[in-house]
Amino acid sequence: MDKKILYTAIKPTGRMTLGNYIGAVMNLKKYTQEYCSIICVADLHALTINLDPKELKDNSYAIIAFYLACGLDPDKIILYAQSHVKEHAELGWVLSNFTMFGEANRMTQFKDYVAKGEKIINCGLFNYPILMAADILLYDTNVVPVGIDQKQHVELARNIAIRFNHKIGDTFVIPEPLVDKTGAKIGGLNEPTKKMSKSTRGDTGTIFLEDSDDVIRKKIRKAVTDSEGVVKYDMEHKPGVSNLLLIYSKMKNITIAEAEEHFKDANYGTLKNEVADSVIEVIAPIREKFNTLLADKDYLDTILEKGAQKAEAIAKKKLKEVYDKIGLMPRKSLQ
Ligand code: TYM
Repeated sequence: MDKKILYTAIKPTGRMTLGNYIGAVMNLKKYTQEYCSIICVADLHALTINLDPKELKDNSYAIIAFYLACGLDPDKIILYAQSHVKEHAELGWVLSNFTMFGEANRMTQFKDYVAKGEKIINCGLFNYPILMAADILLYDTNVVPVGIDQKQHVELARNIAIRFNHKIGDTFVIPEPLVDKTGAKIGGLNEPTKKMSKSTRGDTGTIFLEDSDDVIRKKIRKAVTDSEGVVKYDMEHKPGVSNLLLIYSKMKNITIAEAEEHFKDANYGTLKNEVADSVIEVIAPIREKFNTLLADKDYLDTILEKGAQKAEAIAKKKLKEVYDKIGLMPRKSLQ
């Protein structure tokens, strides 16, 4: 039997964080054995925040290098850049006509952005989940591993696919979000109830995978806790300590209950030191491979080219099927 298809992506709006690693990358190596995996750097999505062009390019290469440094084998997966396969933007336009304004307007990530009082809100930010639906639906995706913040966007992709299939005829596979039960939301170290986010560089609440051991230790030492002095998992009343326990359990591949048991007589100083050790143990070897990979842009370009060719072949076929079904005229030379 053919393997099911997995699709996921990261947008290069900043450098990769421990949150991205735990929520969306850590399990990928295992998943790639089970699923036919298509993974992209969502550079078109990153345009929504008007990054400096050099930063956008550097971040994009960094994400590719990180995926590889985390052990993904480019011969066994399709790894590519979203902007290299123009069918994403084309299908995005088609799908915007199968998306209701009201449902796009309910996306919490967009609403949060507006609520923050941002003065400049471009249409790209509003349309962003529709482009994400196109990414997913182009490849007959079955599962989409994401953190909790992206689950609603995958659900929108499902709704768009169901509506399209109903109106036009069976075309798209209905995708399922694949959300890790515990690691789907890693909180910021300074604001543990909010997600650890990549958009602010130098932020003390975010561990970047490129941070040195020393910086990782300093950031974790400054992590917010509480005055109770008891190490136990209680997200509601002790979000800082719980977030640290969660990170530890993920780094050590143990349950939260096992992490709690390990720290039952420990004070917060010991907890922070051991959490820092556990993060460094996992991240340091990845960082070393990352630095070597990032220095070889030719190699990364070769991987991207191979990936784009494979992705494009699939995407072209799907887009042609869509164009035919919705009544766009065939082009003679392409028949
Ligand atoms: P992005 O780039 O914001 O995040 C990439 C992945 O990391 C997860 N994540 C987290 N998980 C746990 N804790 C955190 N603190 C944390 N921060 C981020 C996200 O949930 C996500 O899985 N729109 C997407 C990128 C995208 C995409 C797609 C994803 C574009 N097209 C198609 C899947 C399928 C995004 O902005 O993710």
